[in-house]
Amino acid sequence: MNVQEVLRFADDMVFAKTGEHLEDLQKAILLGVWKGQKYSKIAEESHCTEGHVRNVASELWQLLSDVLGENVNKLNFRSALERSQFAYFSNYGKNSLQIGNVNVCDNSLQAPEIPKTRSPSAPTSDISKPQTRLDLADAPHISSLCDRTSELATLEKSIVQDKCNLAAILGISGIGKTALSLHLIQKVQHNFECVIWRSLRHSPPLETTLKNLLEFLLNKPQIELSSSIPDRLSLLMEYLRNNRCLIIFDDVQSILSSGQLAGNYRPECENYSILFRQIGETTHNSCLILNSWEPPREITALKGENSPVRTLQLKGIGTAATEILRQKSLLNPEKGDNLINTYRGNPLWLKIVANTIQEIFRGRVADFLKYDRLFLGEELAAILYPQINRLSELEKKLICRLSREANSVSIEQLLQNADLSPSELFNGLQSLGRRSLVEIEEQENETLFSVCPVVRQYVLSNPLC
Ligand SMILES: Nc1ncnc2c1ncn2[C@@H]1O[C@H](COP(=O)(O)OP(=O)(O)O)[C@@H](O)[C@H]1O
Ligand SMILES: [Mg+2]
Repeated sequence: MNVQEVLRFADDMVFAKTGEHLEDLQKAILLGVWKGQKYSKIAEESHCTEGHVRNVASELWQLLSDVLGENVNKLNFRSALERSQFAYFSNYGKNSLQIGNVNVCDNSLQAPEIPKTRSPSAPTSDISKPQTRLDLADAPHISSLCDRTSELATLEKSIVQDKCNLAAILGISGIGKTALSLHLIQKVQHNFECVIWRSLRHSPPLETTLKNLLEFLLNKPQIELSSSIPDRLSLLMEYLRNNRCLIIFDDVQSILSSGQLAGNYRPECENYSILFRQIGETTHNSCLILNSWEPPREITALKGENSPVRTLQLKGIGTAATEILRQKSLLNPEKGDNLINTYRGNPLWLKIVANTIQEIFRGRVADFLKYDRLFLGEELAAILYPQINRLSELEKKLICRLSREANSVSIEQLLQNADLSPSELFNGLQSLGRRSLVEIEEQENETLFSVCPVVRQYVLSNPLC
């Protein structure tokens, strides 16, 4: 939670209880205390006396104690708010939620229609507006996020300002798609009447997904729906036109097929393409976010900077991952640059390797790095297995070829003894790129391709072809 999110959350909670927003000095106190400032410093910056700040602060702690239902003071306000916000996110899934003494979510029936002209930057806690209905029962717990400021800003702009209809957050497993979208919800939920999270991990048929969405959106759990998919689809589209909803589908790769180039559907899930097309191509007020290892076909075809369909290819978090090493109690985490680079700033890979360093080397990163062979334990191999195993034969051939190279190679070099025609090579490279499994760099007007060290190690030790 960053300080702006804290201020907004505190303001919303206070508003929900009292009907009044926090005053400027109250916000300055929260901001100052968050930064570790003394009351005297806050008073100086707010141009008032320290005594006045103390009095206002004391009333503020009392107010927050009432709102959150626990004793809040200068020392614990940060953790108290984080705890409450965590509860807000992880307990939802029913139709309302009580935090302390405040009923955060409206339990009303269907959300009223919002005019298309609604300003995205309008104040979020206007009493005349309905509060956001959330269904995050399917979502994992939210945890702290290192960095990702620019990714969050890009997504917020696409979704709130540009009002895009369909967005895909793409990237290899563990890179942080789920975590990022949970934080995104926190940031943008006030712009929506409904926010709903669904995991597609078990490849649900489209009709089940549509039923599930409609039951929540229409707020009628036992609704009798037509069994026809087109009928359900048109009911959903009508709702998305008349209301502003944010839908997140997580683990979308599960409805896509293995053994083919990236982006093709499993035969029984092929009709999701109709849903994605309708959401991406028609005019409505809502937004669907897809988290996936690879973009479904429609996304690739429809995306564009001026299009209502956007993609964000997530990369590693770079040196910000030092914080992950610190949280894992590694010694001298600031010397972990080498480690972060080898594991490409992938938060999950780094968490796994940090556990190994903790368990075997008592947290000494330097000792672990003495062994130059990249360590790929069973846990990491199990994470990579489904991603590599689902590749088409063509991609398997190509990734083996790339992994045998110590350095990046050009298309010309690849063609020399890859036993592939140019068109096979282009298809294979493009597909591996969409799956974030090849790294591409430009050197002296030449494009070079390689495989990152972890994937390379996996491929070399688990022959695919
Ligand atoms: N920016 C980040 N900072 C710290 N931890 C992160 C970050 N992104 C992801 N994580 C953590 O890494 C793990 C994998 O993230 P997750 O979002 O599940 O990845 P994905 O959905 O891409 O497979 C989780 O434990 C998550 O909390
Ligand atoms: Mg995920």
